[in-house]
Amino acid sequence: MGRKFLNIEENYEYMEKLIAEFPDQLQEALDIGRKALIESRKDIHEVLICGMGGSGVGAHFVKDFVSETAQVPILINKDYEIPAFADEHTLVLASSYSGNTEETLAAYAAAKKQNCSIIAISSGGELMADAQAAGFDTISLPAGYPAPRACLGFSLVAQLFALHKSGCVPNFFEEQIIDTLERIKLEQEDMRSKAEQIAQLMVDRLPVMYGANRTDATLLRWRQQLNENAKHLAWHQVFPEMNHNEIVGWKGDYSQLLVVALRHRDDPARHQLRMDLTREVFQHWAGGYMEVYSRGGSFLEKSLYLVHLGDWVSYYLAELKGENPDEVKVIDHLKEQLKKYD
Ligand code: F6R
Repeated sequence: MGRKFLNIEENYEYMEKLIAEFPDQLQEALDIGRKALIESRKDIHEVLICGMGGSGVGAHFVKDFVSETAQVPILINKDYEIPAFADEHTLVLASSYSGNTEETLAAYAAAKKQNCSIIAISSGGELMADAQAAGFDTISLPAGYPAPRACLGFSLVAQLFALHKSGCVPNFFEEQIIDTLERIKLEQEDMRSKAEQIAQLMVDRLPVMYGANRTDATLLRWRQQLNENAKHLAWHQVFPEMNHNEIVGWKGDYSQLLVVALRHRDDPARHQLRMDLTREVFQHWAGGYMEVYSRGGSFLEKSLYLVHLGDWVSYYLAELKGENPDEVKVIDHLKEQLKKYD
């Protein structure tokens, strides 16, 4: 499919457009998912989702979104190897936007060797060519997007359809995705101004982000987007785990840190209590503290609301720092260097 972003140089500042188009991307992703030809499987014992960076983060959301309905465990694999137990009863989703990411290609090759049941999700590259030649099920994503991290809607929705059509989860998600994209369309202007205010607080501070355990995927996405778009370091941790270790580290002058708590109004009561009680520790030691609440009905909608808000935060932070949110030259350079050692 021909896209508007094929010539990157002529489209400096495409990230703003890609983020703004997130609701349209979700709609297009639904159309792709509905049309995808995926064989229904029997005897799947576990699902292994393999993918790196922008093509890997979707798996964290999928795992959480299907946790109440999945009949089999969902495992995430971010390495060259796959576990020894993976066999013909393992459904492997190989997710790489470019189709040329070496870790994902190696994991895919290992899955082939171990006779796993495979679905490839990609816009092309070696992964798509090999999977098609081998006769595996595939979901083709639109080619020509310059940044896999801006294709989260495509990879996430494709993974949900792959799991549904192969028989591992019911289709609970279509309506929720429609609610999400409608809300984001309506609220985008408001979200942008909220994001700009958050970004202003991050310019001269490093964000440390917290949330309930189930917010882990969203926190990871915020971190990765701050890293790649805004060229900013950040870290995250979840409750209750942080109450058992990291909380002790909060002692000393941490005025250079900004604590951002991502919260859902219906987070589990015990998690909310822990977050409320820990607030005073942050307020005592950190340079700033803020809470950001999700909006929406389903957990999927609330999570993608926060994802979209975080994408805008990373965009505005890049702008405020004078960084170009489009480029990730250091990743490209590293990939080029690695090729020399093939
Ligand atoms: C770049 C980005 C990266 C890539 C990662 C894997 O926008 O987000 O994190 O996603 O290097 O590449 P793909 O997605 O092509 O497998």
